Amino acid sequence: MNDRPIGVFDSGLGGLTVVRALQEQLPNETVIYFGDTARVPYGTKSSETVLTFAEQDCSFLLRFDPKLVIVACNTASALALDYLREKMPVPVLGVVEPGAAEAVRRCQGRGIAVLATEATVASNAYAKAIAALAPNIPVAQQRCPSLVALIEEGRTWDDPIMSMLVAEYLEGVKDLDPAVVVLGCTHYPLVAQAVMKQMPRATVVDSAGATALAARDLLVREGALSDSSAPGRLRCYVSDNPQRFREIGGRFLNKPIRDVTSVTPEQFFLEQVLEAAGAAT
Ligand code: DGL
Repeated sequence: MNDRPIGVFDSGLGGLTVVRALQEQLPNETVIYFGDTARVPYGTKSSETVLTFAEQDCSFLLRFDPKLVIVACNTASALALDYLREKMPVPVLGVVEPGAAEAVRRCQGRGIAVLATEATVASNAYAKAIAALAPNIPVAQQRCPSLVALIEEGRTWDDPIMSMLVAEYLEGVKDLDPAVVVLGCTHYPLVAQAVMKQMPRATVVDSAGATALAARDLLVREGALSDSSAPGRLRCYVSDNPQRFREIGGRFLNKPIRDVTSVTPEQFFLEQVLEAAGAAT
């Protein structure tokens, strides 16, 4: 039994879809969430930059003594997970491996389509994770650069512009006639129904849900589940604009968000620099 929190980070507020799934699977666990709202999006940035940001985000969470850190951001998971696992003193779980494993489980030997950000697609992380489990499964990847902004703008799955855009992106994987479509970005679960409607023969796999199940399995294996009978708390930290995080994040979490603290980049980085300097002397 272990009442230390689970740390979760994302480039912004999208990772709240992972928190929502975690709260369903592990309602008694306390979650500390860091959203790097000052530097979002990660999905269009270089791998070097994403690696640096991911390390800083993860290091920030370590201050809370987490028993597990979840990289809720698909882009950061795709580009930085191996590095973080090597460097961090706690278990680190990403969203790509659980999402890929769930897709393989459900594809019945047929093709898998992956919808993701530009950087995630460019990394081939999903294709590699699927190939590691099932080398003969055909995979098609489609980057969907405009979805994140439209979802944050509040457009729902049945909005005509959203439907047009989803149709346009699905065109890129249509030839595969996939058995499974993986939503390989934190934001996409909010438009899952548009994908289901337009590809009714495919099963839609949401990496957020698969990751929450993987987190539960990991904590069970390690005997590290919380023994509290009270609902776990959610404390959020953001690097910019807590008000916007509260307003828009509520849609991702499916309930109001109360506890949001702003960590200015100056505090955030200066403290990390000072800690690193202290450790070096
Ligand atoms: N959180 C990112 C992801 O899942 C989407 C938003 C961004 O580009 O930073 O890839």
